[in-house]
Amino acid sequence: MTEELIVARANGIMEIRFNRPEKKNALTRAMYDGVVAAFDSAENDPAIRVILLTGTGDTFTSGNDIRDFQQRAESRNTSAASPFLTALSTLQKPLIAAVNGAAIGVGTTMLAHCDLIVAARSARFVMPFTRLGLVPEAGSSLLFPQLLGHQRASAMLLLGDALDAETALAAGFVYQVVDDAELMNAARTVAGRLATLPPQAVKQTKFLMRRGKSDLAGRIGEELELFRERVGSPEAAEAFAAFMEKRLPDFSRFS
Ligand code: COA
Repeated sequence: MTEELIVARANGIMEIRFNRPEKKNALTRAMYDGVVAAFDSAENDPAIRVILLTGTGDTFTSGNDIRDFQQRAESRNTSAASPFLTALSTLQKPLIAAVNGAAIGVGTTMLAHCDLIVAARSARFVMPFTRLGLVPEAGSSLLFPQLLGHQRASAMLLLGDALDAETALAAGFVYQVVDDAELMNAARTVAGRLATLPPQAVKQTKFLMRRGKSDLAGRIGEELELFRERVGSPEAAEAFAAFMEKRLPDFSRFS
């Protein structure tokens, strides 16, 4: 397990912490793989009743590492996120997120798979896929219109508009908003409540609540196929280079 991911177990709760604050917890292949391994271990450990995801510092996660995207486009590597998305969308035990600050890209799309989200007042949710020359992933093109309605989902997925914590609460996207200093206490309280409930009843309830999303796996696959093309596209190359060079992208030459 890399130190960019910290996994701790206590009182029936597995806490998984993105721990790369100097890069705003941008997710690398090793971090995705570490989360998949942690999920697998939690699913197979009867002592673990609930999983809690959070990040170190002022950002939950800034999404996929953009340098990794660039390298992937050059090497034609497979998606680092793909096994993570499969594990996330099929997880049987309850998953809680404690969102400290910004959740960007997959940082927000992964939240649509969380059972309960506790957000710090500083949290904001952004999916800047089009701005990066990309398309949505993690089933977000299906889940966000269902969760937030078509207009708000379009604003987020097409325009890249951010959702702040209070608006997310009003829209029903998060369970609770608390002061930043209270975030982990509040999230651990929710996790602790779930951890004391009968585990089979909890798992079966989660299973039933997922039933309405029966085409989710298909959509995740469809999105990943398009995403794979987009990562290697000239539009995305310009967006990634602009981010790394700390300048605005120029999409005027594309038709
Ligand atoms: N991939 C790779 N590096 C990233 C990153 C990412 N997703 N997000 C942040 N970083 C790096 C920055 O390049 C910077 O590195 P440097 O110190 O070597 O220059 C460092 O993390 C700090 O980021 P910075 O942009 O200086 O911090 P900020 O507080 O001004 O802004 C964010 C924070 C998260 C708003 C901003 O970094 C951002 O927008 N990141 C990109 C988000 C994104 O588009 N993700 C992809 C989604 S698909």
